[in-house]
Parts: sequence; C-alpha cells; structure tokens
Amino acid sequence: MAFPATRMRRLRRSGLLRGMVRETELTPAHLVQPLFVELGTDQRTPIAAMPGVDRLSISHAVEEAAAVHDLGIPAVLLFGIPSHKDEQGSGAYDDEGVVQLATRAIKESLPDVVVICDVCLCEYTSHGHCGVVREDGAVDNDVTLEVLAKTAISQAAAGADAVAPSDMMDGRVGALRSQLDAEGYSETPIVAYSAKFASAFYGPFREAAESTPAFGDRRAYQMDPANADEAVREALLDVEEGADVVMVKPALPYLDVVRRVKEATRVPVAAYNVSGEYSMVKAAAAAGQLDERAAVLEALTGIRRAGADVVVTYHARDAAEWLR
Ligand code: PBG
Repeated sequence: MAFPATRMRRLRRSGLLRGMVRETELTPAHLVQPLFVELGTDQRTPIAAMPGVDRLSISHAVEEAAAVHDLGIPAVLLFGIPSHKDEQGSGAYDDEGVVQLATRAIKESLPDVVVICDVCLCEYTSHGHCGVVREDGAVDNDVTLEVLAKTAISQAAAGADAVAPSDMMDGRVGALRSQLDAEGYSETPIVAYSAKFASAFYGPFREAAESTPAFGDRRAYQMDPANADEAVREALLDVEEGADVVMVKPALPYLDVVRRVKEATRVPVAAYNVSGEYSMVKAAAAAGQLDERAAVLEALTGIRRAGADVVVTYHARDAAEWLR
C-alpha cells in the first residue's frame, strides 16, 4: 500500500507517538566514560585538544568515577599516564602502576563502578609504540604478548572488572585468556579492541596520553581503514580466542563495520567514539556551528543503531546529564 493509504508522517505527529515507535534506545546504561589518570600530581590538568576532558590525579579519578556513577553510567575505562616511560613499557605491569593504583582506589570507595582497564604499552614505552620494539624497528608480536598478559594479570589483581587490550597484536586475546585463567582470574572478562583502525582520529588522545610514536606509525599493527572483511575476521578470531566483548574503533567513520561485526559474531559489541570524533564536535560547537547537545545525542544514537551494545565516549557524562 502506497500513498495516500500510507502516510509515514502519521506516526511522527507528536513526541509521544514518535517515542512509542522509536527503534533505538540511548540510555546512560550503555555508555562507558574513559578517564585519563596521572601519577605524581593532585591536580586536574586540562587537555588542550579535548576541551572538557582533564587528566586526573587518582583522587580526582575517584571523584569523577563517583559523578559518572551517580548519572547512571555503569563503567569507566582507565588509561594511565605513568611518571616514567622505558623501552619495555614496564610501567604497564607495575603492581604499583598508575592504573593499578587507580583501580584499587576506585573499587575501594565505589565497589559498584565497573572498572575496565586499557591493556596496551604505548602509554608506557619511551618510543610510544604499542609493543616491544626489535632492533630493526618492528614491533615484536610474540614478545609483546607476554608483557600484555602480565599487564592484564596485574590489573585483574588490582580489582579490574574487565581488561581491554587495545594493542592489536595477533593472538593477544588467547594469551590474556589463558594466562588470566592460570592465575585464578577466569571470571575477568576481556573487552577486545578487535577492529582498531590506524586512524587520524586518535590525534587528541595521543596528546592526552603522550603516546605519539617517536618514529614510524601504527599501520603495521592497526587496521587499514579501507578494510571491512578483515575487520569481521579479526572479530571472529577474537571471539574464538575468548573475547567476551568485541570492539570497533573509531565509531562514526566505521558504522558499517559495527553492523557487520554485530551480525557476524552475535556477541556484545562495543564501539569507541574516539578523541578526534569528540574534539570535532566540541570545536564546531565552540564556534557556534552546531548544537552540541543535539549533535552528540544524534551521533551516539547512530552508533547504537548501527549495532553497538556499548558506546565508549568522552561525551558520556554530558550525554547522561542530557538524557536525565
Ligand atoms: C592505544 C590506544 C589509543 C586509543 C586508545 N588506546 C590510541 C592509539 O592507537 O594511538 C585512542 C583513543 C582515542 O583516540 O580516544 N593504547
């Protein structure tokens, strides 16, 4: 039946009608707030490239986690900025490292906040790569797996509710799963950054985490933005290795990938609305070029509509306030 029997506008006539037939739900329950935690300070330090986002001392991270929790956001994702970096990224698996200390502090005062820890070396290596670099300058996959597994174990020991490997080494989900299991952490879920693309949209994050590679780039481990079949393969492999959640990152330029990964895996899918996506909206809003609130809620709804069960976003706190 076509027009005039069918009139699509009938169900758009009022807010109540539109709400009744809305297909996609966006609530704070689906959001994850990333936090940057820094050692050796008691301050909040604004990140110039990400207006509204600060680097936090451990006590400020606890405060921020409480605020986020009060808004109905279930989880925070912790990134650490250590006080010192070295070739091996040893700060990543230090039991007294920044993420481990922050995890303990948050879980102690807020046991109901889900703490997810980023597992990667780039914030901890002096060269800024996500793994151990060989003499020839290449990142050594298999040597890196050991370091990543040690990192995940020390985070689980600190009380992490989930670990999230973002390094893109082959086999790291399996390595984390078997070593976590062997150490008694068989109940710690793995949120795998399965399809992480070599993206220009990570720029502001690298300023925040001081993790810009000192030489080269990440294209020998992160994915080519042109590839979607490969993203599906990555996700299926991670599920086979034991991933509990698979992630696509960035989000907005890759919504087709979110959809395909969801359909292929049927496991919980997360999408990471990354720093550059955040900063673009903030810049346009600051210039009076778009309505920040409407743009953010539309973007996050779009990511959910594409198939993401969980959305990691720096807008989480604002969005939760707007959704109240
Ligand atoms: C790497 C990592 C990156 C992000 C999260 N984890 C960046 C990178 O590959 O340089 C980016 C997140 C963002 O841009 O918001 N451990």
